[in-house]
Amino acid sequence: MIRRPRRNRQSAAMRDLVQETNLSVNDFIFPMFITEGERVRTEVASMPGIYRYSLDLLLDEIQECVDLGISAIDLFPNLSDSKKDKYATESYNPDGLFIRSVRAIKDRFPDLVVMTDVAMDPYSSDGHDGIVENGKILNDPTLEVLGKMTLAQAEAGADIIGPSDMMDGRVGYLRKALDEAGFQHVSIMSYTAKYASAFYGPFRDALNSAPKFGDKKTYQMNPANSREALIEAELDFAEGADILMVKPALAYLDIIKLLNDNFNIPIAAYNVSGEYAMIKAAARNGWLDGERAMLESLMAMKRAGAKIILTYFAKEFALLNQ
Ligand code: PBG
Repeated sequence: MIRRPRRNRQSAAMRDLVQETNLSVNDFIFPMFITEGERVRTEVASMPGIYRYSLDLLLDEIQECVDLGISAIDLFPNLSDSKKDKYATESYNPDGLFIRSVRAIKDRFPDLVVMTDVAMDPYSSDGHDGIVENGKILNDPTLEVLGKMTLAQAEAGADIIGPSDMMDGRVGYLRKALDEAGFQHVSIMSYTAKYASAFYGPFRDALNSAPKFGDKKTYQMNPANSREALIEAELDFAEGADILMVKPALAYLDIIKLLNDNFNIPIAAYNVSGEYAMIKAAARNGWLDGERAMLESLMAMKRAGAKIILTYFAKEFALLNQ
């Protein structure tokens, strides 16, 4: 035998030499949940190790993450029902929990990359990402709400805005709104190929943001489709997105690769709540080694072409690698 692939696997040092993909804490964005109140820290039942924090404790937690080398977070609000309405007006309230918190975080951590989510669902009494009329999700009127939300977030200091709503035309609309208001420096990470997935369940528990009726299939993508992801990506690219995201990650590695092969801007993957919950649940039952399963799945996302990974494992990874 002339070709013996096992020669390159014969020792740890040899394996390290030929390893094609490496993970670093610099690859990660840590999604975090903020809630109202003071000294509040409640664990999300379906996401062991992940908490909703009030602003005071969130700042402490971010400090810990920064000390561990985490350089980017993505913030989501958990609001009481009394703050929600049909038009998600709380989403652009400059004194509301979310905008106030972004400002406080950027004041204390100017070097931290703060990404903010742009979508109506955490603020919507309908639990949808768009304005609902007669059971339908309206596209263009929703863009106006997203625009106001984006400007409020940019004003508060957001570095990256992450439109996660899947309305048509939003990247172009938000780019223009940002530029006209003098926020040329604010990046857009578009949720480009966001699928209508069962894997968002625990996140909707965390934010109490599940749709009050129906599902999200008229705006989020059909899991059966990949060519459609190219259309979404072409539009987002043309409309000015800086980074294209695929979500969820593990069941969509082919989509990550497809976008990475076809577009020369960075590709991100969102390792979503359900993917986190599955590994945690199995590990708690002693059914698999949670740490190895975490590292293997993060590695797979990176190998598939994700330069950036949004993951609830970010802090755990950082703790392991300090
Ligand atoms: C909603 C949004 C969702 C997630 C991020 N932004 C859920 C949804 O579309 O219902 C999911 C994140 C996760 O599951 O970790 N705009």
